[in-house]
Amino acid sequence: MQATARVFFAIWPPPGVAAALHRWALAARRTAGGRAIAAEAIHLTLAFLGEVPETRIAAALAAAERSEAAAHALPLEQAMHWTRRGIVWCGPVSTPPELAALVRRLSAELAHEGFVLERRPFLAHVTLLRNARRARELPAWQALEWPVAEFALVRSRLSASAARYELLGRFQLAAAMPE
Ligand code: 2AM
Repeated sequence: MQATARVFFAIWPPPGVAAALHRWALAARRTAGGRAIAAEAIHLTLAFLGEVPETRIAAALAAAERSEAAAHALPLEQAMHWTRRGIVWCGPVSTPPELAALVRRLSAELAHEGFVLERRPFLAHVTLLRNARRARELPAWQALEWPVAEFALVRSRLSASAARYELLGRFQLAAAMPE
């Protein structure tokens, strides 16, 4: 049988942002219940490929190499609770144009390599709690800014308690032009 890997492209926040998000998630857990994502596992998914043959990872890396986009700041302005899915997440009020351009470019390059992506529109969100079913008011949210300078291809190995992520490739974004 062919070996497969569950893979996705994502951005990872710098440690200070991840720590602040995790702290808030622990406070939110007291009201909403569920499980807080570990600080080092907090991320924002750009494109989810799902289970692919391991032999296709090189094609995904090649698509990412061609996906040029600009470094930018991602404001995390709001926290939301999808009570039906049990997910508490945070994200921007509207997706920064540079992030939208990266997702568009990456999706096009992946399609060019023959990957079939979801047709659901991209919604920039950072999952902070899972299995959070109690529909109570969340703690106050303080807006944060996440500097986005690179993205990554990551392999997810699912286990009973939490996913383990393995970095397969990192891709730098172009430095912003001076004004
Ligand atoms: P989630 O946080 O909204 O669940 C690893 O599983 C990452 O891929 C998570 O960020 C998860 O998003 C995302 N993911 C899982 N399944 C997905 C799917 N079918 N489509 C898009 N993203 C998915």
